This record gives sequence, C-alpha cells and structure tokens, in this order.
Amino acid sequence: ATPSVTVFPHHKLNPINRNIYSGFTEHMGRCIYGGVCDPSNANKDLIDAHGFRKDVIEALKPLDVPVFRYPGGNFCATYHWQDGIGPRDQRPARPELAWDNVEPNHFGTDEFMTWCDAVGAEPYLCLNFGTGTLDEAMAWVEYCNGTKNTYYANLRRKNGHPEPYKVKYWALGNEVYGPWQVNQMTQEAYAERALQWAKALKLLDPSIQLILCGKEGATSWDYYTLKHCLQPAGLNELGEKRKPLIDMHSIHMYTASEDHYENVTAPLAAERAIEVCSSLIDLAVVENKIPPAQKRPTICFDEWNVWLPTRAVGSKGAEETYTLSDALAVACWLNVLVRKSKDVGMANIAQSVNVISPLMTTPDGIVKQTTWWPYELFCRFMKGHQIAVHVACERYTGPTRPEWVRTVKDTPYLDVSATTDDEGWVSVCVVNIHAEEDLKTDLGGVGDTGVEVYTVTGANLKVTNMSGKEEVGLKKSTWDPKENGPTFVFPRCSITMLRWK
Ligand code: AHR
Repeated sequence: ATPSVTVFPHHKLNPINRNIYSGFTEHMGRCIYGGVCDPSNANKDLIDAHGFRKDVIEALKPLDVPVFRYPGGNFCATYHWQDGIGPRDQRPARPELAWDNVEPNHFGTDEFMTWCDAVGAEPYLCLNFGTGTLDEAMAWVEYCNGTKNTYYANLRRKNGHPEPYKVKYWALGNEVYGPWQVNQMTQEAYAERALQWAKALKLLDPSIQLILCGKEGATSWDYYTLKHCLQPAGLNELGEKRKPLIDMHSIHMYTASEDHYENVTAPLAAERAIEVCSSLIDLAVVENKIPPAQKRPTICFDEWNVWLPTRAVGSKGAEETYTLSDALAVACWLNVLVRKSKDVGMANIAQSVNVISPLMTTPDGIVKQTTWWPYELFCRFMKGHQIAVHVACERYTGPTRPEWVRTVKDTPYLDVSATTDDEGWVSVCVVNIHAEEDLKTDLGGVGDTGVEVYTVTGANLKVTNMSGKEEVGLKKSTWDPKENGPTFVFPRCSITMLRWK
C-alpha cells in the first residue's frame, strides 16, 4: 500500500516546553576553552571583549536555545565553583579528574552568566555531589541568586555583578551512580543526600527548581530515588504551603552505531525510557500520596545525542564527525522529544560546541555538522503544541540493538512528529530512514497552498561536513498540493520539514 501521513492540525495533544531544545556546555575537551571562549585565538576578529567566540554566539542566537546546562557533566564531581570567580590571575589551576586535564578556571560562573546573556539563554547549574559540600552548594545558590546583605551575595556584587542572576535550574549531581564518578554512590546514599540538600536549598531559595539525578529512566535507580525524594510538600512552621522539593528527574542516554538502521532506530529506546520513567514518576506520586494539587515532576533529559565514544577523535575531546546517517538519527531523537513532550520538561543536547556537538570551531571559523540542520529546524519551528498525526507505511524489521530498542520490535520507515504554534503555523517533520527507497506518500490534512519545504539530505549515508565541504545542507523550496496532488516524495535518507499556515 502507498505510505500515508495524515496530519490533524486541530487535534492538539499537549503544549511543548521549549526547554526541550536546550544545550549543554561542559568543561570538557574544546567545549569551553576553544568553543565558548577562545581568547588566545590569533584571529582577533573572531573574539569579543569577553574573549568569547563571536561566530559561536552568532550561530546559536537565532536558534533561541532556551537553557544551557553547565559546568558538567562528569566535570562537576570535583568542581569547586569558588575557584572560578574573582580576578582571573588569582584563580587557581586544579587537576581535573573526569577528563584527565588541568582546569585553569579562567571561565567560571560570572563568565557563564555573561555568555548566557549573549546567546539569550537561561543558565542551568549542576552541583558537585562528588567532593562538594552542602555548604558550598548553598553558597553557590546565594552567590547567584542572593538579594540580601549576605556574604556571598555581596561577593557577587564585589565581583561587579550587582543584580542577582536568578538561576532557576539546579541539578542535584550528575551520573552519581556511575563507576566513573569521583565519589560514586549507592542509590540509598544518593537519595538521602539529595533529599537533605533539596530541603536546605529550597529553604534558602524557594524559587529554584531542583533536578534529581536519575539514570536512564527505566532502572531501579530511577524508581528508588524518585520514591525516596518525591514527598508531599506540606506546610512550613507558619502554616504556609511549601514548594515541592523535586521539580524534575534527570535521565541520560547516548545512542550510535556504524550500522545505519541500528543508528536511526536507537532513539526509540529513549522514547521507551521516557514512557517507563514517566510511569515510575506516577508510581512514586501515588505511593507517596502526593496530593493532586502538587505539581508532578517532569523528566529532564539533560544529556542526549548520537555518540560513539570509540569513534570520536581523542577520548578526552569526544569530537564526533557526524554523517548523514547521524543527522537522521538526531532528527529521530528530536521527533521522540516532541512525541513525548507531555512528559519532558527539559532536554539538553550534549553538547553544544565541539564536544559531541553539531557545531565545531576551527581557528578560522565554525563548521555546522550534518546534525546541526535537524537541531536548527526543530529549535526554529517545532514549538507550541504537539498535534496528532497518523503514519502508515512499511516497517523496518531487521536487526536492532536490543539494549537500545528494548521492546520496540519494528519501526516505520517514516519517523514523524507534528506541531502547531501560536501563530497558526503547522510543522511536520518526516524522517525517511530507508537507505534505498524514496517513499511516495499520500499526505492528508496538509495546507492547500504554498507549503514550505525544508529538506536535509546528502549523496550517501556516510557523507560529513568536516572535510571543508558542506555535503549535507538545508534546502528550502515550496510545494503546491493543487499542482502535485496529494502525494509527496520523501527522498531516501532525508529529513523533510513541511510547514504551512
Ligand atoms: O557529555 C559527556 C559526558 O557524558 C558527561 O560529562 C557525562 O555526564 C556523560 O557520561
């Protein structure tokens, strides 16, 4: 049968939190030093007064990336934020254990806030659950958000920042379960610590949102930590309503394979992980008798991407060279995030510059990798509400990686999500993962005039943009259903975004 994609623009499913298009900048490889800032670059035209890369800011700004997570990642587990403030020449260099480096601390909290301002994004800070203390964490919140006449708020003022940064998002550690962490913890030890820190941090600043450190979403670690930390907010000593302690539950997943079909079907594991994790949140809410009026935590998918560590150049830098197949995989990832946007409060592509990133810097400029284009298209267009879409087409039933795809047994060759925004634009993203066949498809529910078409594809699945030539770019055209009838051909190995009003 002819494949079909039927869009229901008036059937709104759920609002999409734009924070699902957030980014991540870690002190790892060339992400911060060489990506975000690059003061020693000989080409001074590329650098602004703060030492930031102007071309990186100019590339990210139009995407309107809502939030950037910082300073890690694994880096957090030994990071002492006070090393990174004050006069730069007095900041200590420290051994950096996550990526076996020396951290000069030239870039720290104040520089990150200035950079977030420059790209128009909100900051999201991750607390040190490795060698850090609660005192130190509270001091960081006070430094960033304090408005009173207190020591750390005054220290921020002394460092030239009179206004509070109002940092809303704070993570209670990163991947604390991992054997690769400095001060790895059991679920019991972590959950109790997270609960106690959450209590203190919310007393200090009830306006912040706290993100619990989950694992992959569908694990006993996720269940245990949720069950331990989700508590009815209750009342304070004055009988006033308290804020809930936990606002989001963080999960991480990276997928990749040299095999194209494994590569592009793997993001479905994330879809399954979100479903399971969302059920675990519901279970904890029910078991812990969280009242219906208390906001239910959402999922913070604060590290996701295509990453094959064995392939990335240099284990410290994780500089991936992305292919057309990877661009399709990232588009499928983004379709997953839209399809599951009811449950996802934030998601962060890991990472935003140079390290496992769609955007690379060279001494002379930037390179937009193949994966940049789906990221750009989603950031610009896939917003507002998710809408219903029905897809009927042949399915891929060949081998997939069971550890990724879990219960997903077969996958339509067309991977689709759809949205409508406040201005009435309908956007539909169709990824044809088929390696050989263009798919002539019946389209239903599509606008009847001047449909905008954005296409990302390339000569073959292996092409990249990293050898000086843009092999995978973005093409814009228009399509008129009156002239073309109800059928549209989705080229093999392509991402197509159709938009109309
Ligand atoms: O994003 C790279 C690393 O991957 C992060 O530091 C860590 O949290 C994850 O394992």
